Amino acid sequence: MAVITVQTQPYLDQKPGTSGLRKKVPHFQQANYAENFIQAIFDAQSGFEGKTLVVGGDGRYHNRHVIGLCIRMAAANGVGRVIVGKGGILSTPAASNLIRKSGAFGGIILSASHNPGGPTEDFGIKFNIANGGPAPEKVTEAMYGKTRTIARYLIEDAAAPDLDVIGKAQCGAMAVDIVDPVLLYADLMEELFDFPAIRALFASGFRMRFDAMSAVTGPYAHEILERRLGAAAGTVINGTPLEDFGHHHPDPNLVHAKALYDEMMGANAPDFGAASDGDGDRNLIIGKGIFITPSDSLAMLAANAHLAPGYAQGLAGIARSMPTSGAADRVAEKLGIGLHETPTGWKFFGNLLDAGMATICGEESAGTGSSHVREKDGLWAVLLWLNILAVRRDSMKAIAAAHWQTYGRNYYARHDYEAIDTDAANTLMAHLRDRMATLPGETVHGLTIAAADDFEYLDPVDGSLSKNQGVRILFAGGSRAVFRLSGTGTSGATLRVYMERYEPASGNLALEVADALGPIIAAANDLAEVAARTGRTAPDVIT
Ligand code: G1P
Ligand code: ZN
Repeated sequence: MAVITVQTQPYLDQKPGTSGLRKKVPHFQQANYAENFIQAIFDAQSGFEGKTLVVGGDGRYHNRHVIGLCIRMAAANGVGRVIVGKGGILSTPAASNLIRKSGAFGGIILSASHNPGGPTEDFGIKFNIANGGPAPEKVTEAMYGKTRTIARYLIEDAAAPDLDVIGKAQCGAMAVDIVDPVLLYADLMEELFDFPAIRALFASGFRMRFDAMSAVTGPYAHEILERRLGAAAGTVINGTPLEDFGHHHPDPNLVHAKALYDEMMGANAPDFGAASDGDGDRNLIIGKGIFITPSDSLAMLAANAHLAPGYAQGLAGIARSMPTSGAADRVAEKLGIGLHETPTGWKFFGNLLDAGMATICGEESAGTGSSHVREKDGLWAVLLWLNILAVRRDSMKAIAAAHWQTYGRNYYARHDYEAIDTDAANTLMAHLRDRMATLPGETVHGLTIAAADDFEYLDPVDGSLSKNQGVRILFAGGSRAVFRLSGTGTSGATLRVYMERYEPASGNLALEVADALGPIIAAANDLAEVAARTGRTAPDVIT
């Protein structure tokens, strides 16, 4: 067995986005495309010889092939040991946990998250560092730099071992540990949450529905919810991971998890409904008759986290991405802890978690997590909710109402315009940036603009500055609209418009969201000239 050096040419489009490199499968299938990017991951690091690397993916189409490449290339590049989930499968939070628990120097995670899978759909490769979290920008920039000049890659002249047999194997001189993807993760959840209390909740007749969306969390949910916690058989639906997610988008929102939503709004709804995405890091939370927005869920989880054993000591701080609503800010204020506002993407939370400045983090895009790993974690959010419900024994509706009566309510919505023309999207953003300086003082749809800026973030831990993270238009009275372009899409551009209005506890807490936000939506559309510039009169997805 030997290391082969293969000559290659750079591809110039391998810049990682919000969460790694994402392209369509046929794009990844171009000669040496995946190999180049994997080699760039190694070329951008040093000192990993002989050390451990975690490799796993969400099981989507093309996963097995690229897992094999990762193993053979790791061996050729001098990695000492690869830990890989059985069948090449690991949820993103489980991969993060494995990296941390095994002392690995990092991990390669193959996923395109909530994007669809299949021969013509999406694929992705992402590198996580030793803390278990997504590589920060300086690392992804270094990887991108390597992809632009790459001339060769290294690969072991040996097949990757059979990934379906748990146990110890070998690839060249490198050890390969094929592990149960669920076990360690389920054990971690059992440390954080009061499993006996949740078991008692289920035993009392509490009913739940968990939609795994034919994606990676099925086996995790079966093991944890049905086996360890005693939820009724059939609680987990779509629990078998499929390479194409059954032709669905594994995106836990009200569009793609509509069947779950309808069931939860129906006459015989279970007490609690939840879903997770392709790679298991997102969560959708729906109570009987009530959808909890991710921003509200973050705030409510933070306010009640002390009810779970893992957080009984209290929280060190809360972090949220800038477009996420300010609901969590009010909880942080009441708890007397720090609130950190970061750019979009989980990679910005890693430093805050490592420095002990935040315990719970969240994004409006159905991502919530904590210091237990360095990724957002769908099932973790579900289990924290279950722990809270097991202690409070209130309905979700009652918990939400009590929360708003204490903190006030942040009405919130995000409008997505998907696959629009890239030039039109860039021009729309440029136009907003051009107008920013003169907007303050203008009145639109009865709302006076107090300030407008392009969000930038100075990382308090490493001092790095991230600019151009989204245009914010702040209205007098605390309402706002935020505009940014997606960094995870694979066709054209996706414009995201985030709108928020704060209603104090003494105000009207029971408005329909669309009504509460009506003038803000109208003002946002007019200011950005959304219809004229995108040719769309309505968003594709409202969350
Ligand atoms: C989206 C979400 C963002 C999340 C990311 C990865 O990124 O908006 O919050 O961290 O997916 O799951 P975007 O497409 O907006 O760049
Ligand atoms: Zn995801």
